[in-house]
Order: sequence, then structure tokens, then C-alpha cells
Amino acid sequence: MTTPAFAQPFTLPNGRVVKNRLVKSAMSEALGTTDNHVTEALVTLYGRWAAGGTGLNITGNVMVDRRALGEPNNVALEDETDMALLRAWAEAGTAQGTELWMQLNHPGKQSPKGLNAETVSPSALGFGDTLAPFFNTPRELTEAEILDIIVRFGRSAALAKAAGFTGVQIHGAHGYLVSQFLSGRHNQRSDGWGGDADVRSGIRSGQGPAQRQAEYRLHWHGRENGQPSPQSYGSQA
Ligand SMILES: Cc1cc2nc3c(=O)[nH]c(=O)nc-3n(C[C@H](O)[C@H](O)[C@H](O)COP(=O)(O)O)c2cc1C
Repeated sequence: MTTPAFAQPFTLPNGRVVKNRLVKSAMSEALGTTDNHVTEALVTLYGRWAAGGTGLNITGNVMVDRRALGEPNNVALEDETDMALLRAWAEAGTAQGTELWMQLNHPGKQSPKGLNAETVSPSALGFGDTLAPFFNTPRELTEAEILDIIVRFGRSAALAKAAGFTGVQIHGAHGYLVSQFLSGRHNQRSDGWGGDADVRSGIRSGQGPAQRQAEYRLHWHGRENGQPSPQSYGSQA
């Protein structure tokens, strides 16, 4: 009998093999503690997802900055404080050869009122009338803060890797910070982080003018220099 397509392995361009074509998309669990640390509930949940036979499970969004949460009870991953539980989460979630990728996010201005002390975005522009009751008008990010956020994505990725997650996914959709940078409506900067569509999409492709000044290695597989460490990420060339 032929193996159905969904049950066949899938080889990624970097050579990594996903055991089948079943993927669980990111779904925010809100299972962190009230101060945004990892819990046993995530270990249990991802053990169950792995036991279900999915080839790839992508976690709900994990925040790269605990000052910028998208929802209450998000996990924020900034340092090694939660390493023991992160390792347990990764071990449970990679059982039976399951790929487990951590989705990393910064909400930018799309963070409900009252959750963070302030919100930030490429430009100090609030949402329109429909959403304005729910989200504050943000403060415009400085270039130093933009570089810091990029470093944070790298550091969180390195921590996830060190814990045993097999990949990360950068959240570039749903109106959050990366999406805000890519939008001509929400990004009206006149420096190297804004401008015309080519410049904005350069932020996505890694070819933006400011990005050329720095090296941020977010791709784990195919690296030449051995295992990354949290310190090795976010180093500016
Ligand atoms: C409860 C819930 C939480 C979600 N959280 C995230 C998230 O953290 N990150 C993300 O990229 N998408 C998130 N999504 C969107 C899903 O990944 C998916 O794209 C969306 O549900 C559309 O797929 P569907 O038509 O199969 O439901 C969430 C969806 C749901 C229902």
C-alpha cells in the first residue's frame, strides 16, 4: 500500500527532515505564569501534541521582551532563568522525533491597554477608530531600540536552541511589530528602517540599510561554527 502524502517525510531546504506533513500552527497558550515564566503545563501540553503524531509543532508566541507582552500569561524569554523548564518543554515536545519550533514575537503597538507600561512601534501612530479603544498610541522606537529588539530575537532563539527546541519561527504577521515595520501605513519612518516598499521589505529580507551594519544569526541549521550560545547571538558585526 502506498504511504499517503501527508504521512511522508518532508525535507527542508537546510536538510532537516520533518517526519510527516502534519503541522500544528502557533496558538497562544497563555500558560505562562502571571510574571511570564514557563510552567509545567506547557511541558504536559507539548508532550501530548508530540504523542499525537504531528511532524512539526510550533509553539504559541513567546515574547522577546517582558516589557512588551501581547497577552497576559505569555511566556517571555530573555535569559536563562527558566532553562530547566524550557529543557523539559523541549524534551517532551520533541518526543518521537517531533520537530518543535518556538514562535518568537514582539507585539509592538498591538498590545492591549493596561498590559505594558507603554507600547512602541516604528511610528507614533495609533490605530483607527475601531481599534483605538483597545490599544494605546505608541511611542516611536529609536534606532538603538530597534537594534536591541533584533538582538533580543537572536538571544531568545539561542536560548530556545540551547534548551533543545529544533527551530524558531519569527512572527511576521497579524499586525505585530514585524508586520508594523513592513506596513507603509504603520511605518512612516524616514530613516533606514522606513521609506519605500523596497526598503521596508529589505527589513524582512535582511537587506535593509541598517541591517547591513549588523549580523544577526537566526538560522540554526547549517551554521559553520558549531553550537550557538545565547551570547553568540545578537553580536553586532
Ligand atoms: C487560540 C488561538 C491562538 C493563536 N495564537 C497564535 C499565535 O500565537 N501566533 C500565530 O502566529 N498565530 C496564532 N493563531 C493563528 C493560528 O496559528 C492560525 O493561523 C489561524 O488559527 C488560522 O488557521 P485555521 O484556519 O486552521 O484556524 C492563533 C489562533 C488561535 C485560534
